[in-house]
Amino acid sequence: MADAPFGDYDEARAKARRYLPRALFDYIDRGTEGERALAALRQGFDAVRIVPRVLRPVAAPDIGTTLMGRRYASPFIIAPTALAGLVRHDGEVKMGRAAGQAGIPFCAATQSSTSIGDIAAGASGAELWFQLYVWRDRAETWALLDKVAAEGVETLVLTVDTPASPKKVHNLRNGFGIPLRPSWRLGVDLMRHPAWTIGVMGRYLAATGLPAYANYPVGVATSVTSVLSDPRFALDTQLSLRFVGEVRRRWAGKLILKGILHPDDAQAAFAAGCDAVVISSHGGRNHDSAVTPLEVCADIRAAVGPGATLIADSGVRRGSDAAKLLARGADAVMLGRAPLFGLAAGGDAGAARMIALLEEELRAFLVFSGISRLGDLARAEMRA
Ligand SMILES: Cc1cc2nc3c(=O)[nH]c(=O)nc-3n(C[C@H](O)[C@H](O)[C@H](O)COP(=O)(O)O)c2cc1C
Repeated sequence: MADAPFGDYDEARAKARRYLPRALFDYIDRGTEGERALAALRQGFDAVRIVPRVLRPVAAPDIGTTLMGRRYASPFIIAPTALAGLVRHDGEVKMGRAAGQAGIPFCAATQSSTSIGDIAAGASGAELWFQLYVWRDRAETWALLDKVAAEGVETLVLTVDTPASPKKVHNLRNGFGIPLRPSWRLGVDLMRHPAWTIGVMGRYLAATGLPAYANYPVGVATSVTSVLSDPRFALDTQLSLRFVGEVRRRWAGKLILKGILHPDDAQAAFAAGCDAVVISSHGGRNHDSAVTPLEVCADIRAAVGPGATLIADSGVRRGSDAAKLLARGADAVMLGRAPLFGLAAGGDAGAARMIALLEEELRAFLVFSGISRLGDLARAEMRA
């Protein structure tokens, strides 16, 4: 009997857990240190409730969204996630196709295992954004940006909330890291997940060899098991507002700063010429004592005014989670783990299914609340 398709985030996650090697599942699923930030995200969403209105028939609420002058089918954006290409063979291309099908953008990561050019070729029609982690060698960083722009990417997302490598004991215990080092434990993990080992790693090995950071110049990151051979391509984690200004001067398209949690930082981003910010705690993966986006969203909206574009992410598992961020002032919501688990559970159709389910839940939230469009969420009465 065929496996029933998943019906929500939890079911997709359960399927992903069965399909992926544990080391990869934990890398995606878990947080940092004591995973307090991750727990706070869930608790934060669960603690907020709406006072619904009745006798306001809403048959088909409008979840279409205008963002930076463009109209999208829904307020969702697929967040950048390093190594999404390990989840499924050609995972980043599949993610691009799912986004294209849903009519939403897909933000490809610097640390993708498929180059931005190959993603653009494989997922034509999708709106691709590019997330930048900055290399120590500035000239190489600018050259990468030129390449990205030449692929027709118009929106750059500069991530600014990773000033160090976060502590993740689970990765150490599972033997997961870049470079990936062969170990007995990893070997047993792979044997226990033959569908992934054959269908993903086997296909890579047969076709192109071990996956690598494909946006890096040839020979620099030859595979996920090799040490970065050239210090010029180590990440520069110590970024400044001056550097944001430099990126602004060099990037002609839209520029978005990702990883903002303080109203002053949001204001500084807009003052530096950014088109939007992503209010984010990096999915609870970086700073275990950071506030949640839900806690600060309204303050940031108040500080930047009604016209500024605010995107929020971290911890969205339900349409109702997204609705709460939108009610607090976000214009759109990025999804990290949700489409990754959809992708693991069912390839590009699975990622598309996850997005469709979240859209369906968001519409249901509006219908049950007596709200006909997303713009009216901000006026809804919420209790925490
Ligand atoms: C496996 C994984 C890898 C990620 N890699 C990156 C990255 O390379 N760059 C980045 O800006 N954010 C990265 N993120 C953070 C996401 O862009 C996003 O902020 C976060 O996942 C949102 O939380 P959610 O997963 O709960 O939706 C990653 C997240 C995950 C789950």
